[in-house]
Amino acid sequence: MSESWDDYADDWDTNQDVITYSEKAYDSLCQLISLDGLRVLDFGCGTGLLTELISRKAGAVVGLDSSEKMIEVLQRKQLPGVDALAVELSAQEVASNPHLHSKFDLIVASSVCAFLPNYEDTLLLLKSMLTPDGLFVQWDWCQSEAEPDFGFTEEMISMAYGKAGMDVLKIDRPFALEGKDRTMWVIMGVGKVIA
Ligand SMILES: C[S@@+](CC[C@H](N)C(=O)[O-])C[C@H]1O[C@@H](n2cnc3c(N)ncnc32)[C@H](O)[C@@H]1O
Repeated sequence: MSESWDDYADDWDTNQDVITYSEKAYDSLCQLISLDGLRVLDFGCGTGLLTELISRKAGAVVGLDSSEKMIEVLQRKQLPGVDALAVELSAQEVASNPHLHSKFDLIVASSVCAFLPNYEDTLLLLKSMLTPDGLFVQWDWCQSEAEPDFGFTEEMISMAYGKAGMDVLKIDRPFALEGKDRTMWVIMGVGKVIA
């Protein structure tokens, strides 16, 4: 997987759809929560389009992505308060990487969960990286009748959060992008650690 994402890295920041997606995801995040001073993990951060926006307000941000080339682009931006990690998330990595030892107030995953080999196992691991009041926020394409094997439904998200030990704080469709022949809605899931 990481090799194929490497191929997109050089041109990622010139793709207007990707830029718009990150900006709209950020707007919906700011409507949900104040980022001031938070310790944030941008899981599957790519070149850091969302990481950069979050870093302007957050206390500290870790951007983690399995694509070395994506992370190289992010590192070249030299963003203050941002640590960029080219690693595949795993329990072993969380245990051994000092950047992942302190818990996060917020973990975001923008257009990442659809690409995970095991969404539910990853959620369980991400939940373990949150503070007791921490939030997990994901944005992904909404499943449509035209493509029932693509994207997420509200039911898929709420069931996975339940299995991971998170309450569903909110699931909605905050924005859409115009595709070639249809409007593509984005689904946003917000999970909170069950106390
Ligand atoms: C569609 S891109 C989104 C990138 C970024 N979040 C954005 O919105 O611009 C998906 C990213 O998820 C990363 N990714 C996929 N599976 C991953 C995993 N298991 N661990 C870390 N990163 C992963 C890929 O390398 C890729 O950069």
